[in-house]
Amino acid sequence: MLKLESEMKTVLNHYHQRMEDEVQLFNQLPEEEKIGRKDDFLLPIGFEIGVFLNNMIKSAKSKTILEIGTAYGYSTIWLAEAAKATGGKVITLEISQEKVNYAKDKIGEAELSDYVEFRVGNALESIKNATETFDFVLLDIWKELYTPCFELFFPKLNIGAWVAADNIIHPPHHKNETDKYLIALKQTNAFDSVLLPIGSGIELSQLK
Ligand SMILES: C[S@@+](CC[C@H](N)C(=O)[O-])C[C@H]1O[C@@H](n2cnc3c(N)ncnc32)[C@H](O)[C@@H]1O
Repeated sequence: MLKLESEMKTVLNHYHQRMEDEVQLFNQLPEEEKIGRKDDFLLPIGFEIGVFLNNMIKSAKSKTILEIGTAYGYSTIWLAEAAKATGGKVITLEISQEKVNYAKDKIGEAELSDYVEFRVGNALESIKNATETFDFVLLDIWKELYTPCFELFFPKLNIGAWVAADNIIHPPHHKNETDKYLIALKQTNAFDSVLLPIGSGIELSQLK
């Protein structure tokens, strides 16, 4: 059973309420507006994947955790809570300063700021400039960037590192882009990999 501090529970409740409101609003929007307004929404990994990745990081004792796509910080909260348990740190990448400001506030409220480093800017540049090597990566940026990001962080993975890529099943209009990522991953012949049908579908891969 997952035991969480009350500060984290309060912050999660806030996100879950916002998610509920957003699902209703999103479903009412005309299709063309959904894409144009995507920056207004959390677009979160969701509770199921949050709990799963949190447990995984703790079991694998991952210390250097790279998150590609912070958005408003929902997934970051789950990764940071796990980093606190492993004595590790989350490096999280996001292009929008406004989203990062929101995420910073929430992570502060959850008392997890010591476990998160925000890097604001183009994720491709941030990965290129990173001097760390990684035990765990959550790939959850715009889907056309999955493969370019992968090519940049692949040489920075430690042996046994885990990579979780979100949205492999839903929404289906990303299939072209996510397929390209799966092909690039396979071509390395360096990973054991499985598609888990939880949340929007995550490809979970371990560097051999
Ligand atoms: C699906 S959302 C991330 C959701 C988040 N992981 C969660 O579960 O709460 C993807 C994010 O990638 C960010 N993004 C898109 N292109 C980017 C880029 N080139 N560099 C950094 N971040 C980028 C977007 O601003 C967006 O917030």
